[in-house]
Amino acid sequence: MDSYGGFASLYDELMNDFDYEEWAKYIEEIYKRYNLKPKDILEMACGTGNLSYYLAKKRYNLVCFDLSQEMLTKAYEKLGRFNNVKILNQNMINFNINKKFDSVISICDSMNYITTDEELANCFKNVYNHLKPNGIFIFDINSYYKLKNIIGNNTFIEDREDIFYTWQNYYDNNKDICEFYLTFFEENKEGLYSRFDEVHIERAYKEDFICEKLLDVGFTKIDFYNAFTFNKKSDSDERVNFIAIK
Ligand SMILES: C[S@@+](CC[C@H](N)C(=O)[O-])C[C@H]1O[C@@H](n2cnc3c(N)ncnc32)[C@H](O)[C@@H]1O
Repeated sequence: MDSYGGFASLYDELMNDFDYEEWAKYIEEIYKRYNLKPKDILEMACGTGNLSYYLAKKRYNLVCFDLSQEMLTKAYEKLGRFNNVKILNQNMINFNINKKFDSVISICDSMNYITTDEELANCFKNVYNHLKPNGIFIFDINSYYKLKNIIGNNTFIEDREDIFYTWQNYYDNNKDICEFYLTFFEENKEGLYSRFDEVHIERAYKEDFICEKLLDVGFTKIDFYNAFTFNKKSDSDERVNFIAIK
């Protein structure tokens, strides 16, 4: 069962409590604090292009990619009119773009979808190779605490006006892998509901492990914060933002 297939058509509606404009401002604040003025940005796992849209409006030269063709179709609807945006169908673990960037970014826990040490190392190596000297890599993860304790083995149910969905989770303590079983019921114009299912898999990572893997591929300076802030991450923070400099 694929992830981000049918879900792509509901994604923006279900993410409407995420403020992507603020997210873009946070990324720009990071650039400012690190005294960088990037022009060329690569966004990995851009999804439906919600962050990309705000970065495109700020006139960055943007290349964005995702693994899901369905998510990219939605992204194209938002981004197709910008001549400073290129959209590609690539995989974070083996992408190859014939260009170097001032910054590589990936947001909204997309990195947790990488589930093996080898794939994570390949992704980081690839990011490093696609950055110019002094380039900056920014990404966030769902914290270890959130995946293990909040999502954990819990089930969530959401009843919205025209979408009802259940989200059942199973956490494997040995592998630190969390499987999300999503069942959506979407109402059509006749008031009938159609059902579809997806399985998503995220791995919980400890910060030290991520830092070690970033250092291994050559990044020199690594910081991480409670996301959307520049505060030291605490044990119960749910989203962690990493910044790595080439
Ligand atoms: C939670 S969504 C985040 C999307 C987008 N970044 C946002 O903020 O809305 C995770 C995204 O990661 C993408 N993804 C998962 N694994 C990937 C991979 N190996 N390479 C590229 N994209 C991937 C999915 O297709 C999905 O669009």
